[in-house]
Amino acid sequence: MNRIFGKVLYKGRIVEAGIEFEETILKVGKNVKGNKVKGLILPAAIDVHVHFRDFNESHKETIETGSLSAIHGGVCLVVDQPNCKPVVDSLEIYEKRMRKAEKKIYCDYSLNLALTNSNCGKIAEILEKLRKKYTVPAVGEVFLEHTNPDLQIGYETLRNVLETNKIRLTIHAEDPKLVEAGTPNFKYRPEEAEVSAVNSCLMLSRTELLHFCHISTTTALELLKNSSSTCEVTPHHLLLSIKDYSRLKEFINVNPPLREKPLLEHLNDFDVIASDHAPHTPEEKKDGLPGFPGVETMYPIIVSLIKDGIIGIGAVERLTSIPAKIFGFDRLRYGEIEVGKFANFAVFDFSKETRINSRNLHSMCGWTPYEGFKAIFPNEVWLRGERVIPEEARLGRVL
Ligand code: DOR
Ligand code: ZN
Repeated sequence: MNRIFGKVLYKGRIVEAGIEFEETILKVGKNVKGNKVKGLILPAAIDVHVHFRDFNESHKETIETGSLSAIHGGVCLVVDQPNCKPVVDSLEIYEKRMRKAEKKIYCDYSLNLALTNSNCGKIAEILEKLRKKYTVPAVGEVFLEHTNPDLQIGYETLRNVLETNKIRLTIHAEDPKLVEAGTPNFKYRPEEAEVSAVNSCLMLSRTELLHFCHISTTTALELLKNSSSTCEVTPHHLLLSIKDYSRLKEFINVNPPLREKPLLEHLNDFDVIASDHAPHTPEEKKDGLPGFPGVETMYPIIVSLIKDGIIGIGAVERLTSIPAKIFGFDRLRYGEIEVGKFANFAVFDFSKETRINSRNLHSMCGWTPYEGFKAIFPNEVWLRGERVIPEEARLGRVL
């Protein structure tokens, strides 16, 4: 039995309270006495969009290094995307990846199933079998535009899958008709590509099953605000823009690309903040590959912005309780500091603000687009009742 005491985010407000817990939280209240914790006790984050590579891309990230990076950033649960090499599009590959994760993982882990042109007729059957053993939060990130033709999904296929399955689909919304190849890619992947794709998807049926990944334009956001779908924003679309080209140079490519203006002032219109942690080596970035690492820096940057009063504490629910509800992790005890939920905490000491330095991060890719940015990294992280930072116990499990 553990007891900690301090400033806690509880029922949407910061209160002085104690928390009594084992694997799950037993009591929360001002009369619960415990070891005084220095810092703000927040629920650990759920990052519903990471690419932990591994398999044939273990030169740039593995499930082990990605999850180590996650836990150091206060993230207790990730949803890995299936566009690995090989693509996670079958029962066998899904099981292989989960078995690999089980061996060495520092945070809790779940995995989306890919939708490809080859597996679209069998998706219900694959899901039914997988769900006997695993959670499978969603099908996705579904690519409407992709260099691999098997991963480039047409609207008709999407419509069929939506009409015949009851599973959440997470969509990478860029219309292939409006996208060209080239670098820097913000010149070749216009805003209209995203707007057109979101528009077309919202004309399909059962749009309450759609979750839109990394929305980057205010026009698409307006469409989504009036829909039954949910959407997410990345830290890079919140904070960076094409003005960062002079700083990031050939490292600037990310899909969807950075836009003219960052989206921070629109934060409250998004349901979820997710990193789209997409590591590539510096050599690969110089060759134009799109993607930014971000799982470790996401929560620390957000907390620093909260400390400075630039955004409100409401940002935290976009990293915790809201993604938990959308993807069903709330029923599995994730997402908030509340009796009955897992004791997953990240403690942030506001006096420990630092500047991000890629040498201190744990991703294998070795660089960050946030070099020099202000951040407050968690000084303690608790995963299902065990303190894993600073101790670094190996405790993660697969869902
Ligand atoms: O920039 C990106 N990189 N966007 C994506 O949608 C995929 C990702 C990756 O897997 O590298
Ligand atoms: Zn992605």
